[in-house]
Amino acid sequence: MKITVAKTAGFCFGVKRAVDEVYRQIETGLKPVYTYGPVIHNEQVMEKLEKKGVRVIRGEEELSDVSGGTIIIRAHGIGRDLEEKLRKTGCRIVDATCPFVKKIHEIVDQESKNGVTVIIAGNPDHPEVRGIKGWTNGPSFVVQTKEELEALKLPEGARAILVAQTTFNLQKFQELVEIFKKKRYYDRVVNTVCNATAERQTEALQISETVDAMLVIGGKHSSNTQKLCEICRTHCRNTYFIETLVDLEDKPFQSFCHVGITAGASTPNQIIEEVLEKLCQK
Ligand code: F3S
Repeated sequence: MKITVAKTAGFCFGVKRAVDEVYRQIETGLKPVYTYGPVIHNEQVMEKLEKKGVRVIRGEEELSDVSGGTIIIRAHGIGRDLEEKLRKTGCRIVDATCPFVKKIHEIVDQESKNGVTVIIAGNPDHPEVRGIKGWTNGPSFVVQTKEELEALKLPEGARAILVAQTTFNLQKFQELVEIFKKKRYYDRVVNTVCNATAERQTEALQISETVDAMLVIGGKHSSNTQKLCEICRTHCRNTYFIETLVDLEDKPFQSFCHVGITAGASTPNQIIEEVLEKLCQK
């Protein structure tokens, strides 16, 4: 069996930076170390960190139980109000928001201060998008589809800017840009899809066009992994989404001559290597 592993598979810069920060804080010995939400969408890594004493704050309602120690803001980032609430706990705040996400916060903060309406291409339920929305100072909207953008009606004289969740599908973003440019309130587009995402998506697409089966490795809740899967499926119908080695068991990989592997931004290299090793034995 021939196996092609994507060069871009695994931790992206922002996720690696956030995970490294958590380990750095553990090493300081200052306890407790909290992360606001799981630092990455990967159960295996989270279990490891929890064993080292890291506690996950799962929502604002849990902030009243937090005292002393350090709270780490994960790569997705959070909104301004929430950041304020974290500071009020009296804990030391370590901001591990990915700089690319931070850049979007700055853009929407500035633009909305100037009266510009912010339109975010992304998933409204994703923490990164909630965080971006949380830095706007006026009207903001989240759209996921062409239909949603078409249906959006802004008041007469309004100006609007379009930005994207960093993991938004680049091709879909470009489709939205075309529609947005035709709107009379069009002011500016800032392509904030992260390069790491774009490169990962492009490579996944290229590999999926040439293989018999495609394996996408990542956490069940990882939105960028789900998107990779979506992209691969459009070119390779034998696309499988697995989280760990265990999920590989019932998949019919013996029957394929050429298998491609890619992985989400929060997938540790160790899992990719284990899967690769297992496939080589098939
Ligand atoms: Fe940052 Fe891009 Fe990763 S925005 S968290 S480097 S996918």
